[in-house]
Amino acid sequence: MLPFTRPTIDNEELEAIKEVLQSGWLATGPKVAAFEAALADYIGGDVQLRVFNSGTSALEAVLLAYGIGPGDEVIVPAMSFVASANIIVRCGATPKFVDVDLVSRNIDAAAVAAAITPNTKAIIPVHFAGRPVDMDPIYQLAKQHNLLVLEDAAQAIGTQYKGRQIGSSGNPVCFSFHPNKNMTTIEGGALAISDPVLLKKIEGIRFHGIVRDSEGGMDVPAWGGKMNMPDVGAALGLVQLKKLDGFNQKRRVLVDRYFQQLPKHDALVLPADAEGHSWHMFCVLLDWEKIGLSRNQALEVLKQQAITAGIHYPAMHLFSLYRQYGYEPGDFPNAERIGEQTLTLPLFPGMEEKDVDQVCSAVLSLLNGSY
Ligand SMILES: Cc1ncc(COP(=O)(O)O)c(C=O)c1O
Repeated sequence: MLPFTRPTIDNEELEAIKEVLQSGWLATGPKVAAFEAALADYIGGDVQLRVFNSGTSALEAVLLAYGIGPGDEVIVPAMSFVASANIIVRCGATPKFVDVDLVSRNIDAAAVAAAITPNTKAIIPVHFAGRPVDMDPIYQLAKQHNLLVLEDAAQAIGTQYKGRQIGSSGNPVCFSFHPNKNMTTIEGGALAISDPVLLKKIEGIRFHGIVRDSEGGMDVPAWGGKMNMPDVGAALGLVQLKKLDGFNQKRRVLVDRYFQQLPKHDALVLPADAEGHSWHMFCVLLDWEKIGLSRNQALEVLKQQAITAGIHYPAMHLFSLYRQYGYEPGDFPNAERIGEQTLTLPLFPGMEEKDVDQVCSAVLSLLNGSY
């Protein structure tokens, strides 16, 4: 059975984990410090990297450090994994959804501008499936309105924007290392940021609010949570980070093959390539009405051909939590269409081009009814 994703783990990762387990120091320790330094090297620019127990924690810590709370509105795309909106609710603020582009699945500055009100405090652009958002116009807009921009790059480690790594700008940018991401620490995440004052606050939020002095004493000047990454995850991350560019190159080879092999068809919308795209996922849209199958039936047809596809994602504003904010069907037509028609085709570095060909012929069988 071909899964839609699978982490690439070999002996080097197993050895690295074994070494930590045998060292006696399993929670946050030397491997975390080494992983943060290696990530900072990889991202480049004048930024500090801090790792967390998840991408969600990293995002939450930033919003909390900036004091986002009740009465504040935060702009977020209606199409993303639900963590992008849940972190806003977690802070007591109100999510303001905006629609995404049908092909890029990303937001643009015009959509964001239309959603700004006197209560807007922040914008969370999401680099969907590893495709970079056009950030310059969004930063310009944010500057005019004095808004925080927090880039949700959970799906975008290794993505570049205008030739530079996402995360190297100095503004807060968060990554995820969940096992389905382009590299993994099992659960885990990271924040890239340059502001030293905010960094101190975020470090407090990450670990019980604890601040240590040079004599080894400690104080707790403000609340903090428990969001630290264990050394086992960091040891895995150190090995995976070395391989990341190779993983992403392999993803691109597989994606090129998808573009070559998938047919042009009026019931099929392909994602578009973009400079710097790290191809975390390959999500197509299929018009189920034209095809004459429901998505569940199509998933079953693929399963019979030993292929598992994914669904990324239902539109967030239609979840019952977010309907309580007054959202309803018809508010964001592109996000809703993506939510209904999307199918994530298998894509991971351990795949071969012949696997892509197998998926393409299965998709073709859906399109021409020959299953
Ligand atoms: C867009 C987006 N934001 C946030 C997250 C949360 O990351 P994590 O699972 O590491 O908490 C994810 C994870 O899938 C994601 O895809």
